[in-house]
Formats: sequence, C-alpha cells, structure tokens
Amino acid sequence: MANETNNFAELISHCKEYGYIFQSSEIYDGLAAVYDYGQNGAQLKKNIRDYWWKSMTQMHDNIVGIDAAIFMHPTTWKASGHVDNFSDPMIDNKDSNKRYRVDHLIEGFADEQSAAGNGQLAEEVLKSMDALLAKDDYAGLKKLIEDNKMKCSISKTCNWTEVRQFNLMFSTEFGAVASDNPDDNKVYLRPETAQGIFVNFLNVQKTGRMKIPFGIAQTGKAFRNEIVARQFIFRMREFEQMEMQFFIRPGSQMEWYNFWKNERKKWHESIGIPAEKLRFHDHVKLAHYADAALDIEFEFPFGWKELEGIHSRTDFDLKQHQEYSKKKMQYFDNDIDPVTNKPYGNYIPYVVETSVGLDRLFLTIISLSYAEEKWNKEDGTEDSRVVLKIPAKIAPTKLAILPLVKKDGLPEIARQLMDECKSSFMCFYEEKDAIGKRYRRMDAIGTPFCVTIDHQTKEDNTVTIRYRDTMVQERIALSDVKKLVLEKIS
Ligand code: GAP
Repeated sequence: MANETNNFAELISHCKEYGYIFQSSEIYDGLAAVYDYGQNGAQLKKNIRDYWWKSMTQMHDNIVGIDAAIFMHPTTWKASGHVDNFSDPMIDNKDSNKRYRVDHLIEGFADEQSAAGNGQLAEEVLKSMDALLAKDDYAGLKKLIEDNKMKCSISKTCNWTEVRQFNLMFSTEFGAVASDNPDDNKVYLRPETAQGIFVNFLNVQKTGRMKIPFGIAQTGKAFRNEIVARQFIFRMREFEQMEMQFFIRPGSQMEWYNFWKNERKKWHESIGIPAEKLRFHDHVKLAHYADAALDIEFEFPFGWKELEGIHSRTDFDLKQHQEYSKKKMQYFDNDIDPVTNKPYGNYIPYVVETSVGLDRLFLTIISLSYAEEKWNKEDGTEDSRVVLKIPAKIAPTKLAILPLVKKDGLPEIARQLMDECKSSFMCFYEEKDAIGKRYRRMDAIGTPFCVTIDHQTKEDNTVTIRYRDTMVQERIALSDVKKLVLEKIS
C-alpha cells in the first residue's frame, strides 16, 4: 500500500524530535559519543532490557541474575588482562593530530572503494588487514595504509605516525587520600560487566546452590574510551551491556558455544528482527581469553556490523582471579563421569559468554521500525506519514486514549478507560488537536494502538480502535479494549 524509504540521517533527527535520544549535555554543545535517552527512549530501552532479563532468568531455571557495582578492585582488571591487553592499534595523522583506530581507518577506506565500484580492492585490503591484525604486525598495517594512500578525513594527507597500542579503559581516583603515586588510588570504570560476574561466581554458586551447567546474567553500564566513536549510538563511550556467563564442564565448551550461538540468534528473531538481517561472523583474531568467538551481525543502515558477541572464554577468567586473589575458584561436581564411573570431582569451570549491547539492540530495533510512507488517497491526492513500527510487545506506549472532543462527557469515559488500563501497560491520554493529527503523532512515537471515544460510545459502549501498522480502524466494545491490547502485547 505505501512506499517506504529508510533514511539514517532522518532517523537520528526523528529520535531527537520525538523524545527518544538526545546528545548528552546538548546545551554545552554535547559530549562526543555520549547520549541521553528521552522519555520514549528510556521506556523502549527498559522494555528491551526487561525482555532480555525475563528470557534469560525467568525462562531458564538454571540462570540467575545479579547486579554488581561498576567500580571493582583494580586487581580485577590486572587479572582479567584488561590493563595489559585491552587496547587497540591506533595511528595518528601528523598534520591534523587526529587519531584513528587502524581497523576503522582501513574499513572506511574499503567502504569508499566499494562505493566507487572497486569492490575487489576493498576485499583485498580487508583480507590483508585481518591477516596483519591476527599477527599483531603493526609495521605491516602501516605499510598497508601508506601503500593504498589512505588519507586523514581532516588534513587529507597520508602523513602517518607509527601504529601504537592505546588502552581503552577510563580511570579515576578513589577516596581523598593524597599519594605520591597516582596509581595507588586508581580505579577503573568497568569496560565490560562480565568481570562482576566472574568475581561473584562462588558467592552465587554457593548461596544459590547452583549446579553446573548454570548461568549468571547481568545488565549494566560499561565504559570505553573509544577513539573513533561514530554512527550515533552504535559506538559510544558510555553504554550498556546485557551479558550472561554460562559455567560448564571443561571439554563441553563447543557443544554449549553452538547451543548459545543458535539460541541467541533465535532470540533476536523473537524480538522482531528478520532472520535475513542477521548473520554469524567468526572471529579471525581471538581475544586473549577465548578459544572460539563469533559475532551475531545485523545489517545496520550503514552495513553489516556486530550486534552481539558469543565467546568461549575457557577457564581463563576464573583461573586468573584464582591466581591473583589466592582464593580457590573450584567447583565440586558430584555427577558421575560415564567414562571413569567416578564423580567428575573438582575443577575450574569453563565459560561460554553471550554479550549484547543494549544500545546497539535499541539502534537495531529503531532502524528496522522507522519508515517514511507515501500513498495515494481515494480522491487521488497524496498522503504521507513517518511511523515507528516498533514491535507492540516492546513499544514504549502501548495504547493512546483519545476523546474525539473535549466535551459531552467523552473525556470522562476516556479517563475511566485510562484508569482501567494503566496498571497493566503504558497508556497515553490526549485530547488536543484534530484526531488525524493525533494519530500521526502516535505513529511517529510508535504507539501500536489508538482508541477513540466518540459520541457513539455514549450510545452503544463501543470505540474505534486504530492499528498503527495497517492504519485499519474497527469498532469494538469499550469493555474489550484492555483484553485486546494485553493479547497483542503478550
Ligand atoms: N564481555 C565481552 C565483551 O565485552 P565485546 O565484543 O567487547 O565483548 C560485547 O562487547 C557487546 O557490547 C558488543 O557486541 C556490542 O553490542 C556492545 N559494545 C561494545 N562496545 C560498545 C560501544 N563502544 N558502544 C556500544 N556498544 C558496545
């Protein structure tokens, strides 16, 4: 029926105009790669988080959730390898002093080449980059950049420094005690939520009497001093992760890795992402803690990019924490090993991790939902709308309740319906402006159902319900509104 276009720049301004996402501290010209969620954005984000939390904890009887602090003992990050390894190769342009992450510079160059019809060169460059990154060959990466005359976007020159490592963790000072050595009071803002789970592994296992295999889930803020932070909320310096560490018997990691890989893809489909917009991408270069890793990628408006990571982390983290804390991280498994006919006994569990960025998932949902539609009306004139077709079960507001006019007792009936529904789901009441204008506003914020109370309501207790995605309207009993909405969002 409608012509649809999808435009990323328009989506960003739409997010601002309709209270989804604002630039952080905008009145001071903003803070790069930091964003605030407005009244509709915060609710959508909460609904996505709740959907993840429920499917992880409530729907799996062997997964429990925790909420660890952002600040952790600094040794945590030494043990996890983040102090020494959580860095990316960077290169600076000597003329503009602009710093680039090497992979982003090369990927940007490859995108330009593809757009200019040089797909083969783009492919070759990316292949070389993967091979060089896998070997930590920084001189080779610099040569690749120079040989292909990759330019700084500001100075437009190829005058590059050597490639160097740059740690991505933010640090701050703890307490008020002055010290000659600033490292004495140094604490980090966590760059991932996972370590809060590892250090609590035994607390949860013992107090929850958890038996392997079991999982610990957590959602919360993480911080990374990203050098090239771009593409709106795709890469931020302060963001939120939803992570689950699944503790398993050593040797069973590939079985669980494949299980969670498929389970997580199915979950993304269940929230409304079409299967053809998702794909797996196996890692070429494994992180220091992993023996297998892949990304679940989504086709964002700017290309295929990582949405979630699935990592087989072996016993790396627990072993490291055992070594640095001198506290045993072992689990006693009294199940019988069919090979030896004896209990499996004591071991440090292996871990398969699922880790998805909440903001990235938000961007996925909102970019899939945004549509600019145009169609011809029966009288031949054109009509249009901008609509957010957010799946009803996670839409910020589920139902708009709209009295046709501000008099004749219609607002009272509408308020009564509002009182009946608001404890079960988010409702919005509005009586200003013509009804068509109110429908368009609800389309723009993504409200899936609108109910209009009119004069006929007073006669026969029926209302008009309008469906956002099809714009179809039908007459239903006032007493059925709550039941119908609950059915559609469950
Ligand atoms: N604990 C493992 C871990 O943190 P990761 O691949 O670095 O793994 C997991 O991050 C997920 O966190 C990513 O797939 C992405 O969705 C999200 N993420 C990572 N860095 C981000 C950033 N700067 N901004 C927004 N989301 C980010």
